[in-house]
Formats: sequence, C-alpha cells, structure tokens
Amino acid sequence: MRRTLTLVAAMVALAGGCGTGGADGGDAGAQRGEQLFTANCAVCHGPEGQGTTVGPPLVHEIYEPGHHPDDAFHRAVSDGTPAHHWNFGDMPPVAGLDSDEVDDIIAWVRQQQRDAGIG
Ligand code: HEC
Repeated sequence: MRRTLTLVAAMVALAGGCGTGGADGGDAGAQRGEQLFTANCAVCHGPEGQGTTVGPPLVHEIYEPGHHPDDAFHRAVSDGTPAHHWNFGDMPPVAGLDSDEVDDIIAWVRQQQRDAGIG
C-alpha cells in the first residue's frame, strides 16, 4: 500500500513536471535554444543573432515567420542555404542537431525577434 502511494505520488510529480514544462515550454526551450545557438550558429549569426562579418542577422525582418517560417530554419540547418539574400557566401549545413534542438533554437530566435518588435 505504501509503495503504491509512493508510486502514485511520483507519477503525479512527474505529470506535474511535464504539465509545467508544456505550459511554459516555449521559455524552457528557448533557453536551451540560446545555448545551442551560441554553440552552433553564433560564429556566423552573432551571439545575439545580430549578425557578424561572415553571416547575416537572424533578428531581422527578412527572417520573420511570414518570410522564413520555421521550416526554412530546419532546411537551412540540415541542407545549408546558398547565398541569395546577402553577400556573405553560402551557409553550410550544420551537423549534429536533431529536430527538437532546432525547434529550441527557433524558439529562441523568435523570442529575440519579438523582443525587437519583429514578426
Ligand atoms: C558558417 C557560417 C554559418 C553558420 C555556422 C550558420 N549560418 Fe545560417 N546562414 C549563413 C549565411 C551566410 C546565410 C545567408 C545566406 C543568404 O545569402 O541568404 C545564412 C542564412 C540562414 C538562414 C536563412 C535561410 C533561408 O532560407 O534564406 C537561416 C534560417 C539560418 N541561416 C539559420 C542558421 C542556424 C539556426 C544556424 C545554427 C544551427 C546557422 N544558421 C549557422 C551562415 C551561417
């Protein structure tokens, strides 16, 4: 009996944890996204997504959801993208990120865009 109660309590705690994660998953995801962005994208797109001398800003109206939906981000990461909007050269594919990790990166970029009044 006691063991059952402990199990139920653990399950409730787990479910509660997931529920909270879901409700504010955007923020938690965006936080992880920031770290992934720093590690994988910032070298070209800048630590805040503001661009560098070798890559464009992603916090830019060109990349708002209406122009570059989330799919465009997934494609850019998995396939790279040829230079077409700027003169920085081609973006090579970025290896080692799964789809969830790219979603988190997108969540963070969208957050930066919203903070900048874009999108
Ligand atoms: C080696 C430099 C480099 C790295 C690393 C890099 N990018 Fe890029 N990225 C570029 C360049 C250059 C362009 C602009 C191409 C153009 O002229 O439109 C670009 C364009 C993009 C675009 C627009 C694609 C489109 O359809 O026009 C997205 C989205 C993007 N990058 C996301 C990312 C993300 C997310 C990461 C990290 C996972 C990343 N990039 C890492 C150089 C880079």
